[in-house]
Amino acid sequence: MTSTAELIELSERRSAHNYHPLPVVIREAQGAWVVDVEGRRYLDCLSGYSSLNFGHGNAKIIEAAREQLDRLTLTSRAFFHDRFAAFAAGLADLTGKDMVLPMNTGAEAVETAIKVARKWGYQVKGVARDQANIVVMEDNFHGRTTTIVSFSTDPDARDDYGPYTPGFRIVKYGSAEAVREAVDADTVAVMVEPIQGEAGVLVPPDGYLRQIREICTENNVLMIADEIQSGLGRTGETFACEHEGVVPDVYVLGKALGGGVVPVSAIAADQDVLGVIRPGQHGSTFGGNPLACAVACAVIEILRTGEYQARARELGGVLHERLRGLVGRSGVVAVRGRGLWAGIDIDPSIATGREVSEALMARGVLAKDTHGSTIRLAPPIVVSEEDLLWAVDQLAEAVGELAG
Ligand SMILES: Cc1ncc(COP(=O)(O)O)c(C=O)c1O
Repeated sequence: MTSTAELIELSERRSAHNYHPLPVVIREAQGAWVVDVEGRRYLDCLSGYSSLNFGHGNAKIIEAAREQLDRLTLTSRAFFHDRFAAFAAGLADLTGKDMVLPMNTGAEAVETAIKVARKWGYQVKGVARDQANIVVMEDNFHGRTTTIVSFSTDPDARDDYGPYTPGFRIVKYGSAEAVREAVDADTVAVMVEPIQGEAGVLVPPDGYLRQIREICTENNVLMIADEIQSGLGRTGETFACEHEGVVPDVYVLGKALGGGVVPVSAIAADQDVLGVIRPGQHGSTFGGNPLACAVACAVIEILRTGEYQARARELGGVLHERLRGLVGRSGVVAVRGRGLWAGIDIDPSIATGREVSEALMARGVLAKDTHGSTIRLAPPIVVSEEDLLWAVDQLAEAVGELAG
């Protein structure tokens, strides 16, 4: 058997170093637990950045994938296939929208939303050619394409990738007033993460999303909610926008839509918006493939019961209560989040997020820092209450130990 150190060395030697993984080599997983090549078990508190909301090896999802693998995996959209109709109708129903447009990764879905908003702006709203602007937020994370990093405020994500795509106005996250000031006659969309995940699980002030909804409606501007990380059960609702009773014009979905099996993303919108796309104007070889549709249909079925949303809500209450108890002691400066999703700020004079993640790993908990000294906890929703509280205890003890 090749050792952990050897596997890491071999992995790093022949791949670009665009990630800085924790030094663990995972071999298998079930539910909320993963096992490394040495047989050590860890509680997964990252869930593939919320791609594994329904747990590793979820029986319903794996069964759907297996059945599909044996029958039909890829056709391209040059033809229809027998899983597409159920996927499109299922996701449209789940979002309450007329139609969907499937892609693969989150970034592709964000790109799709941007393209659709611009085309809608020119063809429906009547914005003069190439004058459209989209309002976006500081500290956003929407993916890694050249257009998306053009409106990133994170130097790591953006620097040295210019020339940048124009047409974006960046305003302070959490300030509806800033959105109102940025919107003009050429604004076609406001794009927002209902909770900013990569920025540190930042929950905006109450009423923020509602106010953005109002500004968009008043100004004939599309509200685009990037629910790639916040959506599909994570926060205790199907969509994080629901916490404010807000319905955006465009949902952008990804991550958990693929059930932790394959990349599946999509946007969902009504006919008056998504209807602007005609044959040949946008697409993807793999988007909406039979395997992706089979897996996504299983995910949609799971979400339809509301069982996972309720569990994330309930366990989220337990998690946040326990985390609040840590603030002000053991080096924990602040905690926030919603449902089974938390950002925990550690006093930076005690340790970096990386050091805390490594200390947690040594204690059997896999979690990752977002920025600086913030740790994100986002376990699969199948996690037991006992395991969840154990993980929080490990965090408290690890930080306490680092504090000396
Ligand atoms: C809110 C949000 N949007 C978009 C993306 C990009 O998704 P992907 O990595 O699948 O391209 C992410 C990934 O973390 C995300 O959190």
